[in-house]
Amino acid sequence: MTALVVGASSGLGRALASELARRKHDLLLVASGPRDLEALAADLNLRHGVAVRALALDLGREADPGARIAAALEGLSPLSALLLPVGVSREDDDFSLDVSRIGQLLAINLHAPLAIVHALLPKLLETRGVVVLFGSIAAIRGRGRNVVYASAKRGLVSLYESLRQRHRSSELRVHLYQLGFLATNLTHGMQLPMPATDPVVIAKTVIDRLAHGSACWYVPRKFALIALVVRALPWTIYRRMRG
Ligand SMILES: NC(=O)c1ccc[n+]([C@@H]2O[C@H](COP(=O)([O-])OP(=O)(O)OC[C@H]3O[C@@H](n4cnc5c(N)ncnc54)[C@H](OP(=O)(O)O)[C@@H]3O)[C@@H](O)[C@H]2O)c1
Repeated sequence: MTALVVGASSGLGRALASELARRKHDLLLVASGPRDLEALAADLNLRHGVAVRALALDLGREADPGARIAAALEGLSPLSALLLPVGVSREDDDFSLDVSRIGQLLAINLHAPLAIVHALLPKLLETRGVVVLFGSIAAIRGRGRNVVYASAKRGLVSLYESLRQRHRSSELRVHLYQLGFLATNLTHGMQLPMPATDPVVIAKTVIDRLAHGSACWYVPRKFALIALVVRALPWTIYRRMRG
């Protein structure tokens, strides 16, 4: 069976691709930069003896990523897992972005997952497969930072609910991870309020759970409680909070 990893060239996506290859899944890997992606595909193929194909796509510019990906899946074993650890955030996403940057953030973080899920849903239903979405604790409640990024990540929560509402777990499993800080490119050089988690640890957990029924998990788990508290705070208190 083939697993598709969108955003596979670094961070969590790279760790997921390695773990999937280790467990003998064939792979289609997608990211914008061809160099890292092709090197990773060659390495995983050599080390684990699985079929690995790389597709370089700039999801910030691609109008129909689903069609390009569907074409790249031709000739591989049937698709049983779609993992979407793709994401981009910006330091200046604080109401100072121009319209093209807003469009780019939405295209990568929301349009691409939506379009890819739409295009591949028939294939995933044929194999009773799994869709894995990655949200962020940055989207628990709207703030003056990560304005567009958090809007897009909230959109993914709605996509998760729509998929679950339409399909029983026996037809299609849908997983949503609400992630805290990871030690990856996205947080490189940032001052974080708590230690970042190793993406390799998260990747193992995600792949261990691939056969589970539809569910949403917070990682680290303590963020489930933090999310509950932050959402329950009255506006008068919440709007005075920094960060
Ligand atoms: N890091 C955190 O602290 C954190 C916290 C909460 C949630 N998350 C979420 O967790 C997921 C994984 O994050 P990460 O930290 O592993 O990110 P990362 O290391 O920055 O990796 C992001 C991946 O997305 C790909 N990507 C970015 N722009 C793209 C584009 N225009 N077209 C195609 N691919 C593109 C990158 O490939 P190229 O560079 O080749 O384009 C890379 O493979 C994301 O959904 C992120 O939003 C991360």
